Amino acid sequence: MATSSLDPFFLLIFLTLSLTISPSFTSSKSLSSPSPLSSPSPKPAPTSTPSILDPKQLKALQSLNIPTGKNPCSSLHNSTITCDNSTPFRHIVSLTLSNCTDDVALSLTAMKALYTLNNIQFVNCPVTPIRLPSQLALNLKTFTCVNSLKKLSGVWLSKLHNVTELTVSNVKVVATGPYVILNNMIHLNTFMITNANLSGYLPKHWHSNISYIDLSGNKLRGRIPTSMTELENLEYLNLSGNMLNGTIPVSFGDLSSLKNVSLASNSLSGSIPDSIAAISELVHLDLGSNELNGTIPKFISNMKRLKYLNLEKNNFRGVLPFNASFVKKLIVLKVGENSNLCYNHSTLSSKVKLGIARCDKHGLPMAPPASKEISSDDSDDSDDYSDDESVHKEHSHGPSKVVLGISIALSSIVFLIIFLILLAKCCK
Ligand SMILES: *[C@@H]1O[C@H](CO)[C@@H](O)[C@H](O)[C@H]1NC(C)=O
Ligand SMILES: *[C@@H]1O[C@H](CO)[C@@H](O)[C@H](O)[C@H]1NC(C)=O
Ligand SMILES: *[C@@H]1O[C@H](CO)[C@@H](O)[C@H](O)[C@H]1NC(C)=O
Ligand SMILES: *[C@@H]1O[C@H](CO)[C@@H](O)[C@H](O)[C@H]1NC(C)=O
Ligand SMILES: *[C@@H]1O[C@H](CO)[C@@H](O)[C@H](O)[C@H]1NC(C)=O
Ligand SMILES: *[C@@H]1O[C@H](CO)[C@@H](O)[C@H](O)[C@H]1NC(C)=O
Ligand SMILES: *[C@@H]1O[C@H](CO)[C@@H](O)[C@H](O)[C@H]1NC(C)=O
Ligand SMILES: *[C@@H]1O[C@H](CO)[C@@H](O)[C@H](O)[C@H]1NC(C)=O
Ligand SMILES: *[C@@H]1O[C@H](CO)[C@@H](O)[C@H](O)[C@H]1NC(C)=O
Ligand SMILES: *[C@@H]1O[C@H](CO)[C@@H](O)[C@H](O)[C@H]1NC(C)=O
Ligand SMILES: *[C@@H]1O[C@H](CO)[C@@H](O)[C@H](O)[C@H]1NC(C)=O
Repeated sequence: MATSSLDPFFLLIFLTLSLTISPSFTSSKSLSSPSPLSSPSPKPAPTSTPSILDPKQLKALQSLNIPTGKNPCSSLHNSTITCDNSTPFRHIVSLTLSNCTDDVALSLTAMKALYTLNNIQFVNCPVTPIRLPSQLALNLKTFTCVNSLKKLSGVWLSKLHNVTELTVSNVKVVATGPYVILNNMIHLNTFMITNANLSGYLPKHWHSNISYIDLSGNKLRGRIPTSMTELENLEYLNLSGNMLNGTIPVSFGDLSSLKNVSLASNSLSGSIPDSIAAISELVHLDLGSNELNGTIPKFISNMKRLKYLNLEKNNFRGVLPFNASFVKKLIVLKVGENSNLCYNHSTLSSKVKLGIARCDKHGLPMAPPASKEISSDDSDDSDDYSDDESVHKEHSHGPSKVVLGISIALSSIVFLIIFLILLAKCCK
C-alpha cells in the first residue's frame, strides 16, 4: 500500500526534474512548423549498456557550443539531439540549434562530421551559413530554418535533393524564383517559405506528391499558373501576402484534396470560379483583400465542411446568397468592404452583423444613412453600421466612427453658436 501511494510522488519528481533539466523540451513544442521531432526517438538499445556517441560527432557538437554531457544520446526525450542505435558508436540523426549566441560558428569540419543527420533545425540562430557537405545535404529529410542563418540562397537550398519537408521562415531567401529551389526535390511533401521576401513567379512545374504549400508573405508576382491546379494531393495552399495578379484559374476546383486555402492580400481579379464547388473537403477559404468581382456564388453555402470564409475587401456585388443557418454554421464570415454587395433582409436579419448594407427590392445596396439624418431614428439600417460584439466581429468599423465624429463636430458648432449668442448679449 505504501508503494502504491508513493508512485505518483515519484512520477511528479521525475516530471519536475525532466522539465528543469531541459527547457528546450517544452519550448520547442511552440514551434508551429510541421516537424517530425515529435515522433518518438529510436527505441532504447536492447543491451543494458548503450553504445556511446561517435567521438567525431561529439567534437562537432562541442564546436557548436551544444552542451554535451558524458553521453548526449542517453536521453529518450531530448528535443535537441536524437541518436540512432548503431554500434560500436551511435550517430546523431536529428539536431536542433536554437537561440544561438554570437560565438557559435558553423565549420565545414563539424558539418562533415554530422553527415548522418536526417533532420536539422535552426531556430533563432543567426549564424552565417556555410557550404553544405554533399553527403549531409543528400541525407537530410527535413530542413527547418526559422529566423536563422542570416540569409539563404535558392541555390544553397536546392542542394537538399531528398527533403520531404522544407521550412524556411523569417529569413531572406535570394533566388530568381521558387523553381530554383524546387527543381531537384522530387520527394517534397511540405514546402514552406514564408516572410522571406522571395521574389519571382510561381513555378509551372511541381512534383505531384506535394501536399502542403505555404509561400505567404513574399514578393511573388504574376499569375497563379493553371498547372498548379493539377496537384491532386494538395491539402493546404497559402499564397497570401504576395503580389499575384490575373484571375484565379478556372480549373482551381481540380485541387480536389484541398482543405485550407488562402489567396488573400494579392491583386487577383475576375470572379470566383464555379469549379470550386467541387472541392468537397474545403474548410477554410480566404480570398480577402483582392480585386475580385462578380457575384458571390450560391454554391458556397452548399459546401458542407466550410467553417471559415473571408471575402472582404474586394469588389463583389449583388445579393449575398447566404441564409441564416449557413451563416450560423460558420466560425468566421467576413464580407465587409465590398461596396456593391448587400444582404436580403428577408433571409438574413439585420442582427447578423456583416458590415454590408441591406438590399433594396432591386437587389442593390440601400444607401447608408445620410449624414444629415444621423440624429434619428428608428431606422433598421443604421443597425448594420453599429459596432457590436458578435461571433463575426470583423466588419467595417468605419461608418460608426464617422457618425460619431460628425455628431461631435455638430454639437461643438451648436455650443459655439450658443456661446457666441450669450457673449453678444452680455456684452451689449
Ligand atoms: C529561446 O528563446 C526564447 C525567447 O527568448 C524562449 O522562449 C525559448 O524557450 C528559448 N529556447 C530554448 C531552446 O532555449
Ligand atoms: C539533451 O541533450 C543535450 C546535449 O547533450 C543536453 O544538454 C540536455 O540536457 C539533454 N536534455 C535532456 C532532457 O536530457
Ligand atoms: C538522395 O538523392 C540522391 C540523388 O539526388 C540519390 O542518389 C540518393 O540515393 C538519395 N539518398 C537517400 C538517402 O534517399
Ligand atoms: C523584407 O523586405 C522588407 C522591406 O522591403 C524588410 O523590412 C524586411 O525585413 C525583409 N524581410 C526579410 C526576412 O528580410
Ligand atoms: C508521396 O507522399 C507520401 C506521403 O504523403 C509518401 O509516403 C510517398 O512515398 C511519396 N511518394 C513519392 C513518389 O515521393
Ligand atoms: C500582372 O503583373 C505583371 C507584373 O508583375 C504585369 O506585367 C501584368 O500586366 C499584370 N497583369 C494583370 C492582369 O494585371
Ligand atoms: C496564411 O498565411 C498567413 C500569414 O502567414 C496567415 O496569417 C494565415 O492564417 C494563413 N492562412 C491559412 C489558410 O492558413
Ligand atoms: C471583373 O473584372 C474583370 C477584370 O478586372 C473585368 O474584365 C470584368 O469586366 C469585371 N466584371 C464585372 C462584372 O465587373
Ligand atoms: C484549416 O482551417 C481550419 C478552419 O479555419 C483551422 O481550424 C485549421 O487549423 C486549419 N488547418 C491548417 C493546417 O492550417
Ligand atoms: C439555407 O441554405 C442552405 C444551402 O443553400 C439550404 O440547404 C438550407 O435549406 C437553407 N435553410 C433555410 C432555412 O432556408
Ligand atoms: C429576398 O428574399 C425573398 C424571400 O426569399 C425574395 O422573395 C426576394 O425576392 C429577395 N429579394 C432580393 C432583392 O433578392
